[in-house]
Amino acid sequence: MKKVLILPGDGIGQEVCEAALPVISALNLPITLSWGEIGWECWKKAGDPVPAQTWDKIRQVDAVLVGAITSKGKAEAERALPAHLQGESIAYLSPVIQLRQRLGLFANIRPVRYIEGARRPFRCCVIRENTEGLYSGMDFKGIGAEVSDWLKHPNIDKYGPEEAAWTVRLQTRFGLERLFYTTFDYARQHHFSRVTFADKPNVMRESGHFAAEVFYEVAAQFSDIAADIQNVDAVALRLVLKPDEYGVIVAENMFGDILSDLAAGMMGGLGLAPSANVGSHIPYFEPVHGSAPGMAGKNKANPSAMFYSIALMLDYLGFHRQAKAIDLAVDRVIREGKITTYDLGGTATTQQMAHAIIRTINAPAVTRTACVITIGDELLSGQYQNSNQQHLSQLLAAADYQVRLQIVCADNIRQISRILNACCGQNELVVVCGGLGPTSDDKTREAVANAVNHPLIHHENVWVTIQQQLRKLGVPDDKSNRLQALFPSGSRILANPSGTAPGFYISSGGSQVVALPGPPSQALPMLESYLSLTNKREAGKNKYDWMLIGISEGEVESKVRELLPFTEWDIHFLWKSPYVLMQIETPPSQPMQQSILNTLDEIFQAHLVSKNNKTAVNLLNDVCDISWATPDAALSVLLLNEKSVTEGKPPLCAEVSINPTLASVVTSDNLLEKMTMSVRLQSGATQTVAFPYKNTLLQKSIPEYAAWCVLNALATDNG
Ligand code: NAD
Ligand code: IPM
Ligand code: MN
Repeated sequence: MKKVLILPGDGIGQEVCEAALPVISALNLPITLSWGEIGWECWKKAGDPVPAQTWDKIRQVDAVLVGAITSKGKAEAERALPAHLQGESIAYLSPVIQLRQRLGLFANIRPVRYIEGARRPFRCCVIRENTEGLYSGMDFKGIGAEVSDWLKHPNIDKYGPEEAAWTVRLQTRFGLERLFYTTFDYARQHHFSRVTFADKPNVMRESGHFAAEVFYEVAAQFSDIAADIQNVDAVALRLVLKPDEYGVIVAENMFGDILSDLAAGMMGGLGLAPSANVGSHIPYFEPVHGSAPGMAGKNKANPSAMFYSIALMLDYLGFHRQAKAIDLAVDRVIREGKITTYDLGGTATTQQMAHAIIRTINAPAVTRTACVITIGDELLSGQYQNSNQQHLSQLLAAADYQVRLQIVCADNIRQISRILNACCGQNELVVVCGGLGPTSDDKTREAVANAVNHPLIHHENVWVTIQQQLRKLGVPDDKSNRLQALFPSGSRILANPSGTAPGFYISSGGSQVVALPGPPSQALPMLESYLSLTNKREAGKNKYDWMLIGISEGEVESKVRELLPFTEWDIHFLWKSPYVLMQIETPPSQPMQQSILNTLDEIFQAHLVSKNNKTAVNLLNDVCDISWATPDAALSVLLLNEKSVTEGKPPLCAEVSINPTLASVVTSDNLLEKMTMSVRLQSGATQTVAFPYKNTLLQKSIPEYAAWCVLNALATDNG
């Protein structure tokens, strides 16, 4: 069980926390939440924005989630204090900076990526130093005698040393080394091939030179990642113009603060940008946005940045699948654009958008995503109808891929490579179609080679086949066709039975890139054969399913891992309230041993509903024509909804009661409670179950539990 402390803070921080947090229980995560106070209200009450109890609570958890905190200037902060604390020289210190400094959270990781809208896809990450730099806290009014010997400037003399202020940009080798190591590690882990240090060495010549030396020392240990230093103002410009050129951007505290807001703007606004503050102690996670006082209390803030921040936290805590599920659900709700907040052009409230996201997570999961890139100047100009875009997408959808993006791109190496870079790592499959011909305007193979960073290699045997094909098609053998036998090293070749250019596929950054020639008569059958090739490998596998009820995904997972700690089998868990679907896949030649199968059945016996993906309601409707007797009118409506065609089946009447009653729970705002359900058959057989429930999922859960109870009662009757 992991422990997470929630510090909602001020303004919209409270609202986005409240709206997004139910996702933790919707995913049935083994996480205990606790709450603490932080922020402006604490300052106003007792002159301390991070009270001692909050520090105590922080020490007891695995991670902290912060909403947002209001900070105001010096004079306003003083005025906000209670009367007895005014004039006591109590300094307001930004709580987030306190958390970062006192917990040693030296890296502030702010991933940004394209989600939707009329801009080119990109994916990058700003990592800002979080404890030193211009926000070290050395910020002074007046130039005292202790520094006046060296702190000199002709402007100081105009009004005297008291009428001047100064700030120290502290940079230490210790601080820089740990920042850069974390940055390069992050780049490697997240498939980024470039790290750019955004600084200002042309002006801040000493600190800039010093930081540059440390940067290149660390970079030298990561030879697989390109490293460069750019002036921070130029990075701001290029980030707006060409965000897809960047990988990870690392910067000192203030430069990173500014760049990460800018990058959030590129993503679609502050309502979308998440962050992770990590370092040597307990990490904390928060949206990049602040408390937006002008919007507070209006239920209109976008909760997405909070959902994405929760996803970063879950990833950190080891719940990778659930983190991905949240990211995908938020992406999907934003892309569908039906239920979004005002900043994305919609009219939904914070709560409505959050509900839509949570509903999407509970909807049947589409695990594989794809994007389709069609290449050709003539497609961009509309000279030819781009039928490939539609037909390739339909093939992918039929093979259970969710097509997330369709892009048309000119015959331009740099543009194609950049789009590929942006799509890889975000989609299982990236299909590129067109531009594999032999003429000089065909750039795709070179662009793919650049993007996946594998040189083009000549395949002599493919060249022989191409020549045969040319002869068969009655086309004179042209030397330029030799180009069509070039493939990025490590590619697998896809035969082209009706044309000359073979396709190929290669994995890169966690994605599979499939390149196909442009003519639809060639591209479509080749994609079909690629899909059947890869699906066939799947199909040969042995699959074992368990449909479990009354147990959390986390419990199922830990029991299985305990039994099979070192297995290489694919084990999938899917939470579909109130069920956990577990599937184990073993290689074709390796069916599961009967003894293991028996042990698994035994472990889950008390929760097993079926081994063929049937729900309790399905099973009950298979055996009888059920009617329900209950004094609870709301409950009887709910149960009636679940009836399907059962004519001709033997009738069965079951009395059912629940505690607490449906009417009382619908109005309760508790997120997770326990409900007891009792069922009695005419035969006198009874069954009682207790299960946790959430208001939003009750409608689905109750009929399933009721059916489950009846099935168990029937089993005791028969047994
Ligand atoms: P802000 O991020 O609070 O808001 C700036 C603007 O961004 C808003 O007016 C709004 O247009 C937009 N915006 C922000 N969050 C949004 C969301 N969820 N949905 C839709 N639009 C959103 O920045 P600010 O106005 O400069 O600062 C307000 C207060 O927040 C200040 O007291 C500041 O110190 C504090 N702040 C706190 C944090 C933090 O807690 N980490 C970060 C930034 C600012
Ligand atoms: C952020 C915020 C904070 C910062 C403020 C509120 C102290 O702007 O998290 O980006 O500057 O670090
Ligand atoms: Mn900021």
